[in-house]
Amino acid sequence: MGIHFGVDYYPEHWPRERWETDAQLMKEMGVQVVRMAEFSWFQMEPQEGVFRFAWLEEAVNLLNQYGIKTILGTPTAAPPAWIIEKNPEIQPVDREGRRRFFGGRHHCCQSNKTYREHVKRFVTAISEKFADNPGVIGWQIDNELGNSHADLCMCGSCRLNFQKWLLKKYGKIERLNDAWGTAFWSQGYNKFSQIRTPLITVTGENPSAMLDWKCFCSDLIVDFAKWQADIIRKKCPNHFITHNYMCFDDKVNYYDLGELLDFVSNDVYPAGYWHEKPQEPLYQAAAAHDVVRSYKKQPFWIMEQQSGMAGWGIMGRQPKPGQLSAWAIQSVAHGADAVVFFRWRTCAVGTEQFWHGILGHSGKPGRIYNELKRLTETFSSYMDDFEGSMPKPEVAIVHNFRQNYAFQIQPHHPKLTYVKELYKYYRAFYEKKIPVDFVQDTDDLSGYKLVVAPLQFLMTPQLEQHYFDYVENGGHLVLTMRTGVKDAENRCMTDRELPGRLGELCGITISEYDCLNETTGGVLYGKKEYVIKKWCDIIELQGASCLAEYSTGFYKQSPAITENVYGDGIAWYVGTEPDEELMEDLLAYFERRSEVATLGTAADDVEMMTRESQDKIWLFVINHTDDEQVYHLHDRYEMIEGEQEEFLRPFEVQLFVKRKKQSVV
Ligand code: GLA
Ligand code: ZN
Repeated sequence: MGIHFGVDYYPEHWPRERWETDAQLMKEMGVQVVRMAEFSWFQMEPQEGVFRFAWLEEAVNLLNQYGIKTILGTPTAAPPAWIIEKNPEIQPVDREGRRRFFGGRHHCCQSNKTYREHVKRFVTAISEKFADNPGVIGWQIDNELGNSHADLCMCGSCRLNFQKWLLKKYGKIERLNDAWGTAFWSQGYNKFSQIRTPLITVTGENPSAMLDWKCFCSDLIVDFAKWQADIIRKKCPNHFITHNYMCFDDKVNYYDLGELLDFVSNDVYPAGYWHEKPQEPLYQAAAAHDVVRSYKKQPFWIMEQQSGMAGWGIMGRQPKPGQLSAWAIQSVAHGADAVVFFRWRTCAVGTEQFWHGILGHSGKPGRIYNELKRLTETFSSYMDDFEGSMPKPEVAIVHNFRQNYAFQIQPHHPKLTYVKELYKYYRAFYEKKIPVDFVQDTDDLSGYKLVVAPLQFLMTPQLEQHYFDYVENGGHLVLTMRTGVKDAENRCMTDRELPGRLGELCGITISEYDCLNETTGGVLYGKKEYVIKKWCDIIELQGASCLAEYSTGFYKQSPAITENVYGDGIAWYVGTEPDEELMEDLLAYFERRSEVATLGTAADDVEMMTRESQDKIWLFVINHTDDEQVYHLHDRYEMIEGEQEEFLRPFEVQLFVKRKKQSVV
């Protein structure tokens, strides 16, 4: 596409006289694309059926004259007051049965038929209007679907839709009763119409019902997006459709949503949102990029890349000189083909007055403008080369929305979350400069030397077989605590000891376990004692060898971590949560056994990542610290950007390239 840098732009917040200056400044900064209008429904349709697209058309055309293309957002995350006045029933209902009202955003129920009609009328009109406008290249559906909807919506319309979804899944109420285990606490249903949305109960809830509810909510959001995508595809066959994801967010299954889209986009604010979290650890930002790449297994866009100090009421830290550029190139290194900064100019009004843009309130270009201008000057031509290229990791971590849901319903330990558990494994690879892919459990694993599948709680015979096949054919698999506990309906399995059939693969059985609650435990691994957390599976060896044993608890000296050679591969079982030190040492061992390569050595916050095209490999070395750093590469590359090899200035980004050896056919 040849488009690599952009900004999120809100011309409707500023006088018309200013637009030309903005376009000029954008052009000088190297901006090639803007996203506009994703929250401007009222400005475009101030009354039902009265469309005012002239201002937007003027902005699109003006920008196009400066060579800047437009992505239009559908504004369906912010229905205007006149819609709410006419149809107050479209406002969502929370778990406590309260309506949530107009005045912020996301005040809509996505299953509500009347709301869908408003959406249809508007999306049809805007897509007809801009279908042939040469300035428009694509669409963003809604904005961050799922955002703020965590506990929404439990209204009557959602209830009916949930019942329909269940009817389709189970066919007969008896099957639902069986799947949900409603014999417990007299929860049996006579008919689907008795089933409610999960409004608050007096105490407790049904884990199988909750898993279905979460999957239903995800399907509903996908369906809401499809409702719009179908219209746009028909009216604008030459435009792309994307959506701005939120990293690991889980309200909607991003793999499913991705099927509707031409490519996935993501929003990243590495400095974090609030003062309690001044900066997200870098490995988390890196993991987010990697998971976003996995949602469609292709390069992605960043639709909102942090462009300044962020916050609503409370603010985060001011990004230091060079830091925003380092974050932007981090996105690119992990697979972004384009980076769109949020936002162009800091808004003077509304909730986000202090979510800072490239330009401050005054609109005068300053430090950040100049920095990002330098960034586009340096990287625009490389970005043309990178387009379409992908990282090619040897390691994969399995990621699955349903497992995540199951742990939200029953976290086991107050601090156990599925995504944080993935981060713990990810981090140990990241800091050793080992690139990682995230994969779905159903994906072909055979291309990876090492696969880590944490918390494989919900298990099916097919998935068991998939893991057997991978290991049998030479794969190296890491399974962890709480594997094989439940079936697909979130019922505990009873036909054999844990971890089910995978016990054969791992050469173990587990007949007891312990939750460590607020205490920690210990294991002996090699000659050292290490700290472990949260959980202990008490393992009996059935052919496996013991790698580490517990040093605490009544199960002291019983195996905690095991190794089993199976077929041509190895299955490791980690029956606990290793703390950082053990994680590092243990993964170093797994990496050695799997012959996984590291890109180099450097401090933890010096990042290394590669992207590969048919004939080239690019290596990015990014200093995320405000100190000078040294590093060492494990392979020979030619430096094409940067000052001095093996040395980095604060926040410096260096770029290397290597030609791939052409295989002779
Ligand atoms: C999100 C949204 C934007 C904006 C920013 C800053 O990422 O998509 O509309 O609200 O956060 O809060
Ligand atoms: Zn609803």
